Amino acid sequence: MKYTAKELREIWLNFYKEKGHVDIGHVSLIGDGTTGVMFNVAGMQPLMPYLLGEKHPNGTRLCNVQGCVRTVDIESVGDESHFTFFEMMGNWSLGDYFKKEKTAWTFELLTKVFGLDKDKICTTVFEGNEDAERDEETANYLLDLGIKKENIYYLSKDENWWELAGTTGTPCGPDNEWYYPLHDTPCSDSCDINCKCGRYVEIGNDVYMQYEKLENGYKPLLNKNVDTGFGFERMLMFLNGLTDGYMIDIFKPVIEYIESMTNLKYGEDTDATKSFRIIADHLRTAVMLIGDENGIVPSNVGAGYILRRIMRRAIRHARKIGLEGSCLGDVAKIYIEKIYNDAYPNLVEKEDYILNQIALEVEKFTKTIELGTKEFEKLINGINRKLEFLKVKDGGYEPTDEDRTISGKSAFRLYDTFGFPIEMTVEMASELGYKVDEDGFKKAFEEHQELARNSSSGVFKSGLAGNGEMETKYHTATHLLNAALKLVVGESSCQKGSNITAERLRFDFACDHKLSSEELAKVQDIVNNWINEKIDVTCEEMPKEKAVEVGAEHQFLDRYPDIVTVYTIGNASKEICTGPHVKNTSELGKFIIKKEEASSSGVRRIKAILE
Ligand code: ALA
Repeated sequence: MKYTAKELREIWLNFYKEKGHVDIGHVSLIGDGTTGVMFNVAGMQPLMPYLLGEKHPNGTRLCNVQGCVRTVDIESVGDESHFTFFEMMGNWSLGDYFKKEKTAWTFELLTKVFGLDKDKICTTVFEGNEDAERDEETANYLLDLGIKKENIYYLSKDENWWELAGTTGTPCGPDNEWYYPLHDTPCSDSCDINCKCGRYVEIGNDVYMQYEKLENGYKPLLNKNVDTGFGFERMLMFLNGLTDGYMIDIFKPVIEYIESMTNLKYGEDTDATKSFRIIADHLRTAVMLIGDENGIVPSNVGAGYILRRIMRRAIRHARKIGLEGSCLGDVAKIYIEKIYNDAYPNLVEKEDYILNQIALEVEKFTKTIELGTKEFEKLINGINRKLEFLKVKDGGYEPTDEDRTISGKSAFRLYDTFGFPIEMTVEMASELGYKVDEDGFKKAFEEHQELARNSSSGVFKSGLAGNGEMETKYHTATHLLNAALKLVVGESSCQKGSNITAERLRFDFACDHKLSSEELAKVQDIVNNWINEKIDVTCEEMPKEKAVEVGAEHQFLDRYPDIVTVYTIGNASKEICTGPHVKNTSELGKFIIKKEEASSSGVRRIKAILE
């Protein structure tokens, strides 16, 4: 390697220290809440008050290498250039020097220190709009430095203006971006910095922060500031002639470790390589967030939820390539002890704590991920069965996106019971070409919260009205009916509702067609056969997850406690249920279906009695 991470860090800081800057070190990754931004997304973020005019204790020229976390592109992590944690090499002028010095210094660093060819450097400036003038000033300095006129691009606000998205009262301004070609072969005559072929890399930018962002528009700041940001990992990759950000020395030992534990080779198989990168990136971010001075832990809300998402995604990908959950702790260890021990010594101090938190989350999720994956596969199979059914009915049928969608309720169950972050379910579905009803998920989530509130205030009552002898019989008959329907209609016929009185049972179930009289007769026969077989009804307590593992039916798993009761009726039925039930099916008498009708869209209703 031409440059190691350690060297690049030093080169940056020394270069700016020589120009009168104070190295202010890096601060917490967790946002302080003032901007509403959860994590620190740019080197300038902790410096906001000073860019707005407050006096900084270290003066007017500052520099550092600041850790940042950006999770908006988390789904893109897995390619060669996206990271959720990265470091930004920065330097600032707080109302001190401005465009003349800044263009000259960036130019000097790129050409003299890094040896880049000035004739190949491309750079962009702001074309101007009603808020701010066209940046001829910067362009002229660049020309004076020797940058070719045709290599200076004027771009619009979309491209050449930097501000913290979604904030007001924050500093911002036009920027000057720096590009360099990775090689000399254009993909076409029009191949330039705008080309998607990847020949040009944006290596950094100098923002001229001279405005404050208001609710509507901008107001000039008292100070004219400079805010420079060069991506550390990107620079390392670029300066070492690499095109894959995961080949830099920061990731090398992690990639090698994963290779050694899986016998896979990084870069050979596209899917596996994606998993390597996701594990490498996400574990690094987890280490940084847990080990931060304001460290967080995985949870179900706010920043903790993002951390959980990141960690669970890594756990899933580890599983995918056959890497044991416990190996993720070793990956974390490599980062803490070998990679960041110099730049982030606080991680070494908190090592035990970080590893413990990672182990806890791995343990929590490993318990349910297998079952959840099975449940997920069931859902996909259910959709496929439905598609086959529709195809049989109509040969010309082509599935729509909607037909290939996992319902919000199902996605919610994966979340609630198995701890699958919704984004993970969406990703898993999309890997197989399916979608998830995310709005439906939100609705189910809100309904669940409402239910939880009601249930804790005693509003929610069990569907079982009374516990008399007949009700108990109908309750057991309902389990048999549920099981018989699965045999006749198919696995997809899950329970949608149940109501029992001393006179009858009423049962709602998912089904896309009216049951024929043959189907009804079959269902009734199956139930009566089980009754005649005089099967014992047994019950057993077990953890909720175990119940799912042994294949127990469940409807409102999220409403049940961690330990549930599973009622088993021989080989006929196994359901999570609070009971009560009869001791033997022979007690039920004769089962007669009285009516079959529509209940709501996709849901049928059966009324039946026992004689
Ligand atoms: N604030 C600028 C950036 O984040 C430098 O790119």
